[in-house]
Amino acid sequence: MTALKVLFIGGTGIISSACSRRAVAVGLDLTVLNRRTTTTRVLPAGVRVVQADVRDPASVHAALGAETFDVVADFIAFTPQHAQTDIDLFAGRTGQYVFISSASAYQKPVGRLPIVESTPLRNPHWQYSRDKIACEDQLVSSYRSHGFPATIVRPSHTYDETLIPLMGGWTDIDRMRRGLPVVVQGDGTSLWVMTHHDDFAKAFVGLLGHPQAIGDSFHITSDEWLTWNQIYHLMAAAAGVEPVLLHIASDTIAAADPELGASLLGDRAHSVVFDNSKVKALVPDYVAAIPFATGARQIVDWYDADPARQVVDDQLNATFDALVAAAR
Ligand SMILES: NC(=O)c1ccc[n+]([C@@H]2O[C@H](COP(=O)([O-])OP(=O)(O)OC[C@H]3O[C@@H](n4cnc5c(N)ncnc54)[C@H](OP(=O)(O)O)[C@@H]3O)[C@@H](O)[C@H]2O)c1
Repeated sequence: MTALKVLFIGGTGIISSACSRRAVAVGLDLTVLNRRTTTTRVLPAGVRVVQADVRDPASVHAALGAETFDVVADFIAFTPQHAQTDIDLFAGRTGQYVFISSASAYQKPVGRLPIVESTPLRNPHWQYSRDKIACEDQLVSSYRSHGFPATIVRPSHTYDETLIPLMGGWTDIDRMRRGLPVVVQGDGTSLWVMTHHDDFAKAFVGLLGHPQAIGDSFHITSDEWLTWNQIYHLMAAAAGVEPVLLHIASDTIAAADPELGASLLGDRAHSVVFDNSKVKALVPDYVAAIPFATGARQIVDWYDADPARQVVDDQLNATFDALVAAAR
């Protein structure tokens, strides 16, 4: 059987690196296109790397010529312009085009749980999510009018060892280790879903070249539901400390730091639970097998392995100190 010929735009990112490994492991003929500037993650042997900047379509044309693919997946399209560039580049040259959207596109506040793919898309709080929705609209329209073979994939919070899911990133781990309180939104009891990138990749690669995925959308997440308090405690346990959690309303945090506020009010302050049965219908062996207790240890081990990775954000620290002082 001839291997599926696949192009990933990205391929060495948090999510796409695991997809590259999985694609090679299941025997796909994988090309990745990127600028060759990300060196944190090593591609497996057998991947062809093409250097181009996807924000400069001429460089993509120059790198790929008239080549055709069975599947093109773009991991780094964020605006309708990016989606249009891909439609212009790949219409008639690929059997499937996969757009990486975001589960943050689902309506906020969430109207009904669990979230299914037909949950309305609306996010008044976060421009990033509105842009992803606009990309999706454009691709759906292009599929309807011209048969552009788009598949939309919506990851939720998907991590590798480099991604600390806490509001303050490494700054929070550093605070925990110094015995300082860390700020947790709300009362920490809202539900969240953390998906390991190796788990995500299993379902994602199963959708590649799948004829029933064309024109359709899927989220891919773990089935492990955790409260934010549990997530902070698991990270603290991995860091070898007992944390002091200080609960502060998301609105109050947003008033102190609008950027943190957008990602809270537009995303992580809302309880989410996902029904993954749609992707499982097409990829029946998909099971998310890595609990966050394991993932948390991988993350802390990675940061502990090299002090250069342990960057404390002084401005964020000052924001947290002010919030803690005001709360007390
Ligand atoms: N992680 C999450 O929790 C989450 C949740 C929802 C949605 N998402 C979506 O997932 C996607 C991110 O995927 P990821 O984690 O694999 O990406 P990533 O970690 O942001 O990595 C970016 C990848 O794209 C390449 N790249 C960046 N700019 C480029 C350019 N101008 N031209 C060509 N290549 C470029 C990078 O390689 P070079 O630097 O070498 O070019 C790297 O391979 C985004 O669309 C995001 O919205 C993520």
